[in-house]
Order: sequence, then C-alpha cells, then structure tokens
Amino acid sequence: MMVEIRSPAEIRAMRDAGRVAANTLAAVQAMLRPGVSTAEVDRFVRAHTRAQGATPSQLGYHGFPAAVCVSRNEVVCHGVPSEREVLAEGDIVNVDVTSCFKGWHGDTSATFRIGAVSAEAERVALAAQRARDAALAVLCDGCRMGDLGAAIEAVARAHGCTVVDAFGGHGIGRKMHAAPHVAHTGRAGAGMRLRAGMVITLEPMLNLGGPEVEIDPDGWTVRTRDRALSAQFEHTVLITARGCERLTLPDSPDGAWWL
Ligand code: MF3
Ligand code: CO
Ligand code: CO
Repeated sequence: MMVEIRSPAEIRAMRDAGRVAANTLAAVQAMLRPGVSTAEVDRFVRAHTRAQGATPSQLGYHGFPAAVCVSRNEVVCHGVPSEREVLAEGDIVNVDVTSCFKGWHGDTSATFRIGAVSAEAERVALAAQRARDAALAVLCDGCRMGDLGAAIEAVARAHGCTVVDAFGGHGIGRKMHAAPHVAHTGRAGAGMRLRAGMVITLEPMLNLGGPEVEIDPDGWTVRTRDRALSAQFEHTVLITARGCERLTLPDSPDGAWWL
C-alpha cells in the first residue's frame, strides 16, 4: 500500500483546504436549530463552500446526491439531506463537510446537540469526541495503525460505547479517499507504521448499542442495526515527527468547541 508523503508546499495547500472545510463546518453550527431541515444544511454548505472559491467534494462522489452528509441520531454516517428531515430539540446530528480547494481536499465533521439532549445522547457524543482526541494523542512518526484503534476502543469502552468497524478513516490529498484505510479498532503495536508527512483522517463512529450497521434502501444512509444512537467527530491530520497537526482548523476558532 503506497501512502504519499507530503512536501512542505503540499502541506501548505492542504492546510488551506482544511481551513475551508472547517470554516464551513463552523458556519453550519450557527444555523442548526429546531425546525431546520437537513436539506437547508445542504444548501448552506453549497453556498458557503462556493463563496470560499472551493467545491463540495462529496457532491456526486460515487453518485452521492448532496454536498454534505447529515447524520441524525441513529444514523452513523452518510446521511442524505432531505426536505422531509427536520431537526428537533433533543437530536444529535453529525455534519460532515469535505471541501476541495485548489485541487486538495479537507474533511471534517462534528456532532451537534440540538437544544437540550438526553444524558445518553450526551454520553455518546462526548465519547466520540474523546475517542478522536485519544487517537490524535498517540499519533506520531513511527506509531502503528493499531495504536490508533486501541486508543479509540479504550475510550469507547470507558464510556459504555462500541466502535463501528464497517467504516474507517482514510488517507486524503488530491483525492478525498486515498490509502491507507484507517481502522478505528485494533491492537496496540500491530499494523503498519505511520510516518511524518502522511495526511489521514481520524473519524471514529461510536454507538450506544452494538457496533453493527445497516444501509438504507437509498444505498447511502448508514444506521445502527439496533437503532441506538451514534456519534462521530472527524479531523484531517498531518503526522509530524513528534505528534500531529490538525489541518481542519477554521480561521476563527471562537465558539468551535469540537476542535
Ligand atoms: N466525508 C466522508 C468521510 O469522512 C465521505 C463521505 S462520502 C459520501 O469520509 F459520498 F457519502 F459523501
Ligand atoms: Co473522512
Ligand atoms: Co468526512
């Protein structure tokens, strides 16, 4: 498996692409409230992405019909925006923005609470964010893929959650999805070594119930099989000698609690 090592100029370009995606995600936060349809989120993401001189990477990707994935409650990922799906108080909703800027992709997501949410919803959302951050914390030159999965699984277990194994993170660059596949489960010390200069996503999906998922007849929407809640957070990250750098940071981080 060939994993590209980025040059300093490529890293600068990917920082710019990551910032564009993060700016749009930060702007989305301000529009989420009860009564907003997920189709409105899609229209907003299209406009906000284009206003930055970028294009939404997900639109038309393998036929995906929208510019953004909006995954509500028991939807794990790849939720297709719809006029009929309206946000309500108590929902948790993941918004996954991928932008292409000057030929490079940035990919980031967060799970937002709509008003006050149940203690269970809070638990899975918090666990997913902490799981992502635990993986970020072990990432460095020479670490192994299994170290990431082990760190994520430990956080999930501590919060009484499970980790979805059917989907993972990925390399990213001039293509949205590239080598390597980044498993969110694993054994410390196992798997390929990651090297400084690689750019990958970390995007663990955690469930309150079992880890099993199924796909809707639309061919996209991924749901938990037991219909228990699911949450996810995603950053695009550069591996460095001593750690990693998040590339999906917005121009103004004020109020962006999920970074
Ligand atoms: N942004 C998603 C990811 O994190 C990609 C979804 S592909 C789509 O990898 F086609 F569903 F948009
Ligand atoms: Co991704
Ligand atoms: Co994504």
